[in-house]
Amino acid sequence: MIESVSSPVVGVIGGSGVYDMDGLEKAEWKAVDSPFGPPSDEFLCGELEGQPVVFLPRHGRGHVLSPSDVNYRANIDALKRLGVTEILSLSAVGSLKEELPPGHFVLVDQFIDRTINRTKTFFGDGLVAHVSLAHPVCSRLDHHLVAAAEEAGIPFRKGGTYLAMEGPQFSTLAESNLYRSWGCEVIGMTNMPEAKLAREAELCYASVAMVTDYDCWHPDHDHVTVEQVVKVLMENAEKARTLIRAVLPRLSGRDASCEQGCDRALDNALITRPEQ
Ligand code: ADE
Repeated sequence: MIESVSSPVVGVIGGSGVYDMDGLEKAEWKAVDSPFGPPSDEFLCGELEGQPVVFLPRHGRGHVLSPSDVNYRANIDALKRLGVTEILSLSAVGSLKEELPPGHFVLVDQFIDRTINRTKTFFGDGLVAHVSLAHPVCSRLDHHLVAAAEEAGIPFRKGGTYLAMEGPQFSTLAESNLYRSWGCEVIGMTNMPEAKLAREAELCYASVAMVTDYDCWHPDHDHVTVEQVVKVLMENAEKARTLIRAVLPRLSGRDASCEQGCDRALDNALITRPEQ
């Protein structure tokens, strides 16, 4: 049997501290229109390690968009229009566990969505669909990220629950302790509804959560200076670039379809019947 192989196009969404991608060949910033409004910025399209890559700074160059102001639908829609098949999402997070200090990465596999002020679906307006989100992260992408993080010597944890909060303020102490009691590993403001929309768009999605701080539950929290947080942010950004370079060659050829079915998420999701 001839194995069917397709060429993936990898979308990288950069979070706080990651506003560009060094070393991209044939790189060009491209504006993309979306019916959902303006994406966060133009898209840096090029090749890295022989792999087509599309990069988007989630908060825009210059960090001008707060998490609630990011147009997640336009970002995912535009990535899809650019031919992206898989998304690697990078984001800064706070740690909810002692054993996950600043500088650690978590390859997230679950989310709890506590955001309240964002449009979370492409559907509605007469078209109803319910996609499965039981496993919101693509296990194939995750598998390759694990191998790449090991190879690059980056301290990381495989698997973990990301609590998505609205922000922009950080949590109260009561909230931070509540999320810890729920067993969450990290807290951030951007992976939802991004992961939900990627699934609706039938794109594989994986999240690299980069710990910049212990959230306020931790006794060290009050003593952390802005300089320390910025230093960790910059070191994390450098590690993220190394991780992306290490993972890309592993993604360069794959079976035509995702074994987990991310690319067929809508097959059994549409409920609205065609006009009779
Ligand atoms: N992003 C980085 N650190 C965070 C924290 N402690 N809470 C929410 N989002 C964050």
